[in-house]
Amino acid sequence: MLLNKDTFGEDFSWGVSTAAYQIEGAHNQDGKGPSIWDVFVTKKNKIFQRHHGDIACDFYNRYIDDLYLMYKLNIRHYRFSISWSRILPKGIGEISQKGIDFYNRLIDFSLELGITPWVTLYHWDLPHELELKGGWVNRDIRDWFGHYVSICVQNFGDRVKNWMVLNEPLVFTGAGYFFGVHAPGRKGLDNFLAATHHAALAQAYGGKVIKSIQRDSYVGTTFSCSHVEPFRMREKDILATKKVDALLNRLFIEPLLGKGYPTRDLKILHRIEKYMQPGDERDLKFDMDFIGVQNYTREVIQYSPFVPLLKAKIVHAKKRKVEMTAMNWEVYPESIYHILKKFNAYENIPPIIITENGAAFQDEVQDGRVDDPKRTAYLQQTIAQVWRAKQEGVKIKGYFVWTFLDNFEWAEGYHPRFGLVYVDFPTQQRIIKTSGHWYADFLSTR
Ligand code: NOJ
Repeated sequence: MLLNKDTFGEDFSWGVSTAAYQIEGAHNQDGKGPSIWDVFVTKKNKIFQRHHGDIACDFYNRYIDDLYLMYKLNIRHYRFSISWSRILPKGIGEISQKGIDFYNRLIDFSLELGITPWVTLYHWDLPHELELKGGWVNRDIRDWFGHYVSICVQNFGDRVKNWMVLNEPLVFTGAGYFFGVHAPGRKGLDNFLAATHHAALAQAYGGKVIKSIQRDSYVGTTFSCSHVEPFRMREKDILATKKVDALLNRLFIEPLLGKGYPTRDLKILHRIEKYMQPGDERDLKFDMDFIGVQNYTREVIQYSPFVPLLKAKIVHAKKRKVEMTAMNWEVYPESIYHILKKFNAYENIPPIIITENGAAFQDEVQDGRVDDPKRTAYLQQTIAQVWRAKQEGVKIKGYFVWTFLDNFEWAEGYHPRFGLVYVDFPTQQRIIKTSGHWYADFLSTR
């Protein structure tokens, strides 16, 4: 069956996603304060070839042309994030009017083009000043964040209806506070568990703050998730898979739904109780209007006595000799179907929106064109799996491609290209890839 956007019905939102630090550049323009990423990229051996986001896609200065390009590709929903330290250079305290002005211009021009903004409030770029006060490890972050959220809603809520509180909390707490491979580069279980609990509190609190100011807002938050399967159908691997599932897919959504942390399947999580105060369990809960799901691949899990605490490990795609993307992630479009079914099975789950999905491949310019058949196929196959889930009754309301422009892929630098639009970074030239033309066609009204 040939799918296009009309197959999914009128009330299904199709769009693209981006994040401030990955595209904006202008890292110190117009009074923006440094974020933890501005600092992290200056450290040795952290980022592929010492790349950084100082300029990135220079979207801050080129948003007019980029939004126009988006419009020409028939994209009518745009998810972007606000950089906290553009609004509040020190995270708290003085507000930067120039920062507010930028997002006003961005929102206004989107609306002028008929593009609906979907705003992520936190996509990993914590103001550096707040990290000096402990960052996500400090419980006060819930209030700092709530204050920042209130400023955003007060300034933009007359035009922005769709909000996402956090982007992939497991990734910024895991990579940033446990493994130390993302900003701010902290390590260890204690940092991770404290950051996790405070992020879980902030995700619910952020939602409450938005609703208290803007009652007719449409509020969600986003989660990284991967379908998990045991390496072999033996008890040890099945048990290991259950633990990894609790960590990768359940850690943040279950407290939000009022189910608490998945301690039964992941005992080590009991240690998070050390950071909990009376009333927290209730405060972790919030009724979101939608849940943002972000999926890229599946993970295959094996029991491993050598991995401390977890006793489980991921059997890497390379080892399994399967097709991979430039991130070395397995190409496995079916993952999204399983994830949608899994999330939809929670009692009282609100509608689901895929707030990110996409793939990085080695794209090259040839005769002024970028032909990326693998990405096109990946998107087509994934969308077919979304359709399959929808037909089976999953309440799914939207799909956003990651991403519009090739951009700064965190620790991987500019090396993996995820965009529908190719960016030649030295010249900032944009070239629509074949996948971009395909998406435009998919979105065209027939
Ligand atoms: C998840 C993150 O939200 C985004 O920032 C990142 O670039 C993509 N996945 C791809 O890794």
